[in-house]
Amino acid sequence: MKTTLVGRDLLSIGDLTPEELTYVLDVAQTQKEAWALGDRDVPLAGRSVALIFQKPSLRTLVSFEVACARLGLHPVTMQGRDTAFSRGESPFDTTMVLERYVDAIAIRTFEQSLLTEVAAYAEIPVLNMLSDDHHPFQGLADLLTMREHHGSLSGLSFAYVGDGNNMANTYLLGGALAGMDVRIATPSGYEPPAEIVQHAEELAAEAGAKICICGGPEEAVKGAKVVATDTWASMGQEEEYEMRLEVFGAFTVDDDLMAQAAGDAIFMHCLPAHRGEEVSDEVIDSTCSVVFDEAENRLHVQKAWLSLVLGA
Ligand code: CP
Ligand code: NVA
Repeated sequence: MKTTLVGRDLLSIGDLTPEELTYVLDVAQTQKEAWALGDRDVPLAGRSVALIFQKPSLRTLVSFEVACARLGLHPVTMQGRDTAFSRGESPFDTTMVLERYVDAIAIRTFEQSLLTEVAAYAEIPVLNMLSDDHHPFQGLADLLTMREHHGSLSGLSFAYVGDGNNMANTYLLGGALAGMDVRIATPSGYEPPAEIVQHAEELAAEAGAKICICGGPEEAVKGAKVVATDTWASMGQEEEYEMRLEVFGAFTVDDDLMAQAAGDAIFMHCLPAHRGEEVSDEVIDSTCSVVFDEAENRLHVQKAWLSLVLGA
């Protein structure tokens, strides 16, 4: 059966089947190679996408705009809280208006419920460019990066050390779908939500993956082929920053922790990084760090997704 993603939303990486996940990564890889060989086809010329940012961004904003440019798709970028979903205009009215102009709606926001509400109203694809709970395009980019560096994802041992946040949720669900051995270490009280862990365990049972919410960073990282972390205070948690510095103090990914991982382990971080906090300079600047490959692959997976859901 041929996989088609035309018209599909992506609100969480867990929305995909294992076959769809592999298909998106394959298309992204093919398009990446074709671009490097000089393919400058613009299959979505004349079409448009709304990019709505209610939180700051560097990578997501630039990589989505460039992905659009490479497809001939026109991005309409709105930043801050004073354009879409403002002035008391309801999500329903906003969605109905946007649908008259654009072919897809991409949103970076706080609550996942705004995305699910817009997706329920919209007949065009809705894309999650990061919410408090999920970051699916970062997850796709990171899985593509792991595949490039380690080959097959099936059985790959992956450790995430840090906050049980949107990235931890995304790694749990994406890793489970890909059949990986996913280990998560957070301070007590900062674990990923129980319903996400349960969803990941259900996906893992089908895909032959393993899920471990571990007792500490050393247990998670031991022998792992991939070690990842993320900021200790996500966007929207700025007031907790000082308190979190204390809570997460023993969770820095440094040379001592990386020494517990496999000899050919890679280090990953979605960025922006807070050097000296969740990761030391020596690790993020080392030859095992693939953080800029991850950033580049945002562009390739988003271009692939836009071309697949818009039927390029
Ligand atoms: N990784 C990521 O989403 O970066 P931005 O917040 O800069 O978009
Ligand atoms: N967890 C971070 C990811 C940033 C890309 C945040 O939500 O701020």
